Amino acid sequence: MKLIMMGPPGAGKGTQAQMLAERFSCPHVSTGDMFREAVKKGSPMGTRAREYMDKGALIPDPIVIGMVEERIDQPDCRNGYILDGFPRTVAQAEALDTSLSRRGAAIDHVINVDVEDAEIVKRLAGRRTCRRCGWTCHVVFDPSKVVGVCDNCGGELFQRADDSEKTVQARLRVYKEQTTPLIQYYQQKGLLRSITGQGSINEIFNRIMEVVDQNHETTSGE
Ligand code: AP5
Ligand code: MG
Repeated sequence: MKLIMMGPPGAGKGTQAQMLAERFSCPHVSTGDMFREAVKKGSPMGTRAREYMDKGALIPDPIVIGMVEERIDQPDCRNGYILDGFPRTVAQAEALDTSLSRRGAAIDHVINVDVEDAEIVKRLAGRRTCRRCGWTCHVVFDPSKVVGVCDNCGGELFQRADDSEKTVQARLRVYKEQTTPLIQYYQQKGLLRSITGQGSINEIFNRIMEVVDQNHETTSGE
C-alpha cells in the first residue's frame, strides 16, 4: 500500500495516516515529523528547517525530496508506506514519480481531505503533540486520558510553535498557493479521491477505507 494523504494544515492528515499505517502495518512517513525531529536534535538540517517552519513557509524542494527518497529506500518501506505532508509542490510530486518509476513502483491512492478554514483554526488551536513520540490529540475533540500527558508513551504534551494563529494563517496561504495545484496533478493521473474531513475521526477513517476498498475492487476486476 502506497498512499498519499493530502489536505490543508489541520485537516487530520497525521491522525488518519497514523491509523492507516496501523491498519496496513506499514510506516507512517510524515515530513513534518521528520523535520521536527531534526529541529529537536539541533542538526544542521533542523536549524535550517526551523527558519521556514516558524514562518509557516515550505522548506526548499531539494532538501525535502532528498530526505523522503532516503526514507522510502529503507527496508521497512519495501511493502508500502503512508505519506503525510509530502508531496506538497508539483516539483516534489514529479520527483516522487520519477523516483518510483525508476524502481518500477507507483502510488496506489491519493486521498485529499477537505476541511473548511474555520474548522482548521479550531483544530490547530486545540492540538497537543507529545514531545517524546509525536503522538497527537485535541483538548476538546480527542482529549488525552490525562491532561498534558501522552496516552502512547507518558511524555509531556505541548503546543506546536507553528500553531499560533498568525502562523496558521500563513500556512493556509502557502497551502492554497503551492499545494492545491497538486489536486489537479493527481486528478489528471486518475489517482485523486477527495473526501470531506468534517465529522468524527472514526467517520473519516471509514470514508478513507471505503475509497481504498473500492479502488482495490476496481483494479482487481472484482
Ligand atoms: P506538517 O507537520 O505536515 O503540518 P501541516 O501540513 O500544516 O499539517 P498539520 O500537521 O498541522 O495537520 P494535520 O493535517 O496532520 O492534522 P492533525 O492530524 O494533526 O508540516 C509542518 C511544516 O513542516 C510545514 O509548514 C513546512 O514548513 C514543513 N514541511 C513539512 N512537509 C513539507 C514538505 N513536503 N515540503 C516543504 N515543507 C514541508 O489534526 C489536527 C488536530 O485536529 C489534532 O489536534 C487532531 O486531534 C484534531 N482532529 C483530527 N481529526 C479530527 C476530526 N475529524 N474532528 C475533530 N478534530 C480532529
Ligand atoms: Mg500532521
